[in-house]
Amino acid sequence: MTPIIAPSILAADFANLEREVTMINESAADWIHVDVMDGVFVPNISFGVPVVQAIHSHAKKPLDVHLMITQPERYVQAFYEAGASIISVHEEATPHLHRLIQQIKALGIKAGVALNPHTPISALENVISDIDLVCLMSVNPGFGGQSFIKNTFKKIAHLKSLIASSNSSALIEIDGGVNQDNAKPLIDAGADVLVAGNFVFTSVNPRDVIFRLKNL
Ligand code: DX5
Ligand code: ZN
Repeated sequence: MTPIIAPSILAADFANLEREVTMINESAADWIHVDVMDGVFVPNISFGVPVVQAIHSHAKKPLDVHLMITQPERYVQAFYEAGASIISVHEEATPHLHRLIQQIKALGIKAGVALNPHTPISALENVISDIDLVCLMSVNPGFGGQSFIKNTFKKIAHLKSLIASSNSSALIEIDGGVNQDNAKPLIDAGADVLVAGNFVFTSVNPRDVIFRLKNL
């Protein structure tokens, strides 16, 4: 299966966002992964709504917005208006996940749920049929450039069987530490979407890295 490739703008040069977005536009990438961090849910602050709007104004590919923020229900509308095509919220960030999923879907965009490395797949049992995407964190959220957590492979297997048994059409997205060593095994294990930040943007030829990920 051909994977969906979503370069993470978090690893891009923020002083040259237009150039970086243009590079992604001209590459084999499918989506642009946009990491929003609030310094509360995760120990780092990235950027907020105006920067997402600026990215969107140059983007020719859908924005896959990953909200690493507390009380995400307060900001879903704003990120939708900023241009998000997919919004993923963390299961750990809200006591009302079901309501929040409905809120995102009512906007006519795709709804995703992200899980921290410690959160079991069973946390999704009662919503898996309602969502379009599961973002499995393969690092602890907050920073790019961390090492891939191998236990993610077990979680992919659990998630695949939950998706199959619930007739869900949710895509499996892997986020964190994706590189040349684990990309192909992840696809073979059942990943549909690969997010890649540092692997793409620290390379000499980011477009070529994206092409190679797309054609594993
Ligand atoms: C981590 C973010 C990731 C990050 C991935 O909190 O959610 O999307 O940008 O970066 P790499 O690929 O460098 O691990
Ligand atoms: Zn992310």
